[in-house]
Amino acid sequence: MIIGFIGAGIMARALGQGLVSGGIVPASHLICSAPLPQDGQPFLDLLPGSQWTPDNAKVARESDLVILAVKPQVFPEIAPALREPSAGKLVLSLMAGIPLEKITAALHPGARVVRSMPNTPMQVGNGASVYAGGPNVTDEDLELVHRVLSSAGKAWRVEESQINAVTALSGSGPAYVFHFIEALTLGAVNLGLPEKLARELAIQTLLGSCRLADRSSLTPMELAAQVKSPRGTTLAGCAVLEENDSLNNLVAACLLAAKNRAEALARGEL
Ligand SMILES: NC(=O)c1ccc[n+]([C@@H]2O[C@H](COP(=O)([O-])OP(=O)(O)OC[C@H]3O[C@@H](n4cnc5c(N)ncnc54)[C@H](OP(=O)(O)O)[C@@H]3O)[C@@H](O)[C@H]2O)c1
Repeated sequence: MIIGFIGAGIMARALGQGLVSGGIVPASHLICSAPLPQDGQPFLDLLPGSQWTPDNAKVARESDLVILAVKPQVFPEIAPALREPSAGKLVLSLMAGIPLEKITAALHPGARVVRSMPNTPMQVGNGASVYAGGPNVTDEDLELVHRVLSSAGKAWRVEESQINAVTALSGSGPAYVFHFIEALTLGAVNLGLPEKLARELAIQTLLGSCRLADRSSLTPMELAAQVKSPRGTTLAGCAVLEENDSLNNLVAACLLAAKNRAEALARGEL
């Protein structure tokens, strides 16, 4: 099986690496396109044996699975050249905000299109991806897409109507977490800790807590209750987060703003 990436940026490289390290295909079965040789070079450096071309149509023609990994704004400009070569191909879109209907209308009627929403922790094999299949996609296609996305993390099948909310949660979520790391770091620096130590402690605390939440049979709030001893420090700290439901309200507003933007992208407000 040949897997082709239209676009050779962060997400293409992350998924390409997952495909090779997960044993789905060797690097020699990967081909990518990007306008200039220097745009494709990081992909080739990361995945020796793979190929680069400036010709998007060639990637579509030569691949069994075509992965759309360009920015959503670029899709209208590249779609016409993909129309004929996408006939009979399985096409997996990573593009935020472009609905299945628009992608299928732009490609050949015989293309089988799956839309996904991955996230950047895919770069370290810990992505969270969802996918939804278009009208003529088969069970085998969905199974293949599940294996492809799972090679760089975890994957879930969803209804397309859920993708904007997923975009707001796991698509944009890594940035919220990076902001939280920074906020913890700045808060600890204000308490007198050196910045490097504060950042390392913040990251390790998030990593450890996420692993615990992932492996434990308890809910996150039950795990929080375990740390909140009466009259203790954690209870005092959490009282600030919980006052007037401030953390929940802030995060809800953040997700709503991201979902609204995803809906605007879907309406074509690129
Ligand atoms: N990053 C995220 O957090 C994230 C999360 C979920 C989904 N996504 C989606 O994943 C897709 C890729 O995002 P990314 O972060 O990987 O973007 P990126 O790093 O900017 O990569 C885009 C790639 O497309 C190439 N490109 C630009 N114009 C092209 C053209 N006409 N033909 C072929 N290739 C072209 C770019 O080349 P140049 O180097 O010349 O620009 C670059 O290699 C986007 O649609 C995004 O919505 C991203």
